[in-house]
Amino acid sequence: MATEQAPGVAQSKEIEDLRLRGRQIGEFLMVYKFALEELTTKVEILREEINYRKGSSPIEHVSTRLKTMDSIVAKAERRGIDFNPVAIAANLFDIAGLRIVCSFISDCYEVTEMLTAQTDVKVLEVKDYIADPKANGYRSLHVIVEVPVFLSTGVRPTPVEIQVRTVAMDFWASLEHKIYYKYAKDVPAHLGDELTAAALAARELDEKMQSLHREVRVGRPRWV
Ligand code: GTP
Ligand code: MG
Repeated sequence: MATEQAPGVAQSKEIEDLRLRGRQIGEFLMVYKFALEELTTKVEILREEINYRKGSSPIEHVSTRLKTMDSIVAKAERRGIDFNPVAIAANLFDIAGLRIVCSFISDCYEVTEMLTAQTDVKVLEVKDYIADPKANGYRSLHVIVEVPVFLSTGVRPTPVEIQVRTVAMDFWASLEHKIYYKYAKDVPAHLGDELTAAALAARELDEKMQSLHREVRVGRPRWV
């Protein structure tokens, strides 16, 4: 029976290096996780407070995602960013992602305004794909914000990509994403056209619901 060998000096150095790498990656990602927790709390407070005051909330659901190290590396390579934590932190603003799904188009803007008006939320970039959809029909309001994360070693301003969309926009984007990946990002032209037509149908539905919502709000007695 083979006896287990004690690791040689070179091997234990390798293990030590790996351990250190693991810790550095963990520490790098941890700050983004905290930034997401801060923003999630802010959104939950808004949701609960509005619900308390009005009996319903403009926020349907909220989700978060942290980019995996694999996709951080892939994106850094694609963009020619040096693979070190400082360069990555300075150039990738979507390591932390927060998605807020709202009921109506107007809610998307109102919720974004409530969030970005907070004094510790700094807006770095806004891309309004609701007012100006992508060629394939994709719609959402994208805002990159920076929030301060207070660590034992000091404050770390941390970017988070927020995507705000209606239920219809979310439905379309989720299914389009699935189809896109099913075809390994090479969707046949006729399917692409149909997806764009479906995005238009989702948009019409949103606009219809928005006008019904407006009508209900206008027709509502003043004390409600
Ligand atoms: P990225 O390299 O993807 O970050 O591009 P970008 O920096 O130009 O960002 P953009 O604002 O265009 O999109 C960022 C994110 O929005 C993506 O990671 C997706 O989550 C979402 N998104 C953008 N376009 C589409 C689309 O056509 N379909 C779907 N399903 N999602 C999209
Ligand atoms: Mg991006």
